[in-house]
Amino acid sequence: MKLLILNGPNLNMLGVRKPEIYGRKTLAEIMDELAAFLGGRGVQCEFLQSNHEGELIDRIHAAFGNTDGILINPGALTHYSYALRDALEAVGIPTVEVHLSDIHSRESFRSASVIEPVCIAQVSALGERSYFVGAELLLSKIGG
Ligand code: DQA
Repeated sequence: MKLLILNGPNLNMLGVRKPEIYGRKTLAEIMDELAAFLGGRGVQCEFLQSNHEGELIDRIHAAFGNTDGILINPGALTHYSYALRDALEAVGIPTVEVHLSDIHSRESFRSASVIEPVCIAQVSALGERSYFVGAELLLSKIGG
């Protein structure tokens, strides 16, 4: 079982960026905990954070045929990137979308996700726990 964990623009700023909304942990700390959690379940994982839409899309394409599931926090790309949406749809790999914050109770532009329709689930508002709940959900859907 192999998962790809993707984080989009500005998530490298976790720990510094609006801690009252996103928490005080760095992305590296959260991803280390996620790697340990998934490793304990015998799941192999690869991680990428990128501030570049095209780099995320290239990584999704490269996952075709060799990856069982994708867990993605697309950051602000969530709200407008049809290109990212199309990439996920093109590869057809089961994907769960996660958000630290409650995208449905913030600025109105955040409540719409163009990614959600090509995902099997969206998990938001649980802080760093969104990644773990999202991973559990993904594994339960793909049989991991
Ligand atoms: C986010 C929510 C997005 O609206 C925002 O642009 C982010 C982080 C979250 O994890 O809560 O960068 O995806």
